[in-house]
Amino acid sequence: MSRLNVLYAQKVKNGELKPDKAQEQIADRLDHLCVELSDYVPEQTNVGGLLNSFKKLWKKPIVKPKGIYLVGPVGRGKSMLMDLFYSQAPVEKKMRTHFHVFMQEVHKKFHTLEIQYPKGEDPIPKLAEEIVEKTWLLCFDEFQVNDIADAMILGRLFEYLFKLGVIIVATSNVHIRDLFQNRPGADAFKPFIALLSQNMIELELCSAHDYRLGRKEIETKWLIGCNPENHAVLDKVFLQESGGKEGEKTILTVMGRQFTIPCAAGKVARFQFEQLCDAALGAGDYLVLAQKYEVLIIDNIPIFNPENMNVIERFTTLIDVLYERHTILYVSAETDWEHIYPEENRAAFFERTVSRLYEMQSLDWTK
Ligand SMILES: Nc1ncnc2c1ncn2[C@@H]1O[C@H](COP(=O)(O)OP(=O)(O)OP(=O)(O)O)[C@@H](O)[C@H]1O
Ligand SMILES: [Mg+2]
Repeated sequence: MSRLNVLYAQKVKNGELKPDKAQEQIADRLDHLCVELSDYVPEQTNVGGLLNSFKKLWKKPIVKPKGIYLVGPVGRGKSMLMDLFYSQAPVEKKMRTHFHVFMQEVHKKFHTLEIQYPKGEDPIPKLAEEIVEKTWLLCFDEFQVNDIADAMILGRLFEYLFKLGVIIVATSNVHIRDLFQNRPGADAFKPFIALLSQNMIELELCSAHDYRLGRKEIETKWLIGCNPENHAVLDKVFLQESGGKEGEKTILTVMGRQFTIPCAAGKVARFQFEQLCDAALGAGDYLVLAQKYEVLIIDNIPIFNPENMNVIERFTTLIDVLYERHTILYVSAETDWEHIYPEENRAAFFERTVSRLYEMQSLDWTK
């Protein structure tokens, strides 16, 4: 057994993980990729560092390994396995990031390069080179394409990244073939789907369990009922978390724009639901919010109207970001998180949100 498998087996043995055959198989495949990577250096660039310059001199001609696209339902252990892979991958220039974070940085850099290249030169090749200089093994958690602006940039950026020899490993709840489908512009996205399929092996993690469920130690931070009693409880939580300071309006700057926090003090921020999810905000704003505050309080989460997908998608993005940052979330809501989005209409992506909200209530969910 080689290292990644050993590590997985050790975690099962010491009780940190429950034994799971499906996970074991994926651990084997990821381990195989680790072995392939120990012989690989991107050919077309001088990006491998000193160690890799030696590898280039001494090794036989290098075959570029395919990356891995790990897909499956929520809570199966995809991110856990990818993190294990990342810790073991024998590559100096590697990066593990959440996909929202990566896209925010891409948009920022794209904007800067567009200003530097006023004559209409294409900034994408330069952007790809800048990424490859720093890293050629990219691990993306929660690969997803939700908006046309991302879709437009991604296809071309990835084309260059793959050409430059980058290896990508990603987790996702969506099969490659289904990325950005049933949306305006989906046809233009098809070549990107083909590109991902050529450069990555899709593996499905078919474990039977959502490991987020069944945690016994639950602490209720999701208060049911948008009423004065619950608001008073949340007032107390605010004061506890702020160290007794009253909240005040605070303004953050996100990519040159102002983002108003209606009530914040110390490490805690508080919003009405619609101020956060029914406003012109997105992943970039939520990232800044989650970087600055450890605790978030949301008042008055309604039962969602399936006609208003923008609000539901924003809430999903918000929970993805908060989960990734391990933010502590308190809310008052019309109903529990399982029923906040009427079942018969529930979009598949919302399962991830439900699973996460469950884990975020557990007692061991701390900063
Ligand atoms: N075999 C296991 N035994 C016990 N806990 C596990 C096991 N596998 C995963 N977990 C735990 O279950 C939780 C969910 O795992 P993880 O976040 O990796 O799921 P995921 O497949 O990435 O889900 P999502 O699609 O929602 O991102 C984590 O806290 C993880 O540590
Ligand atoms: Mg995950």
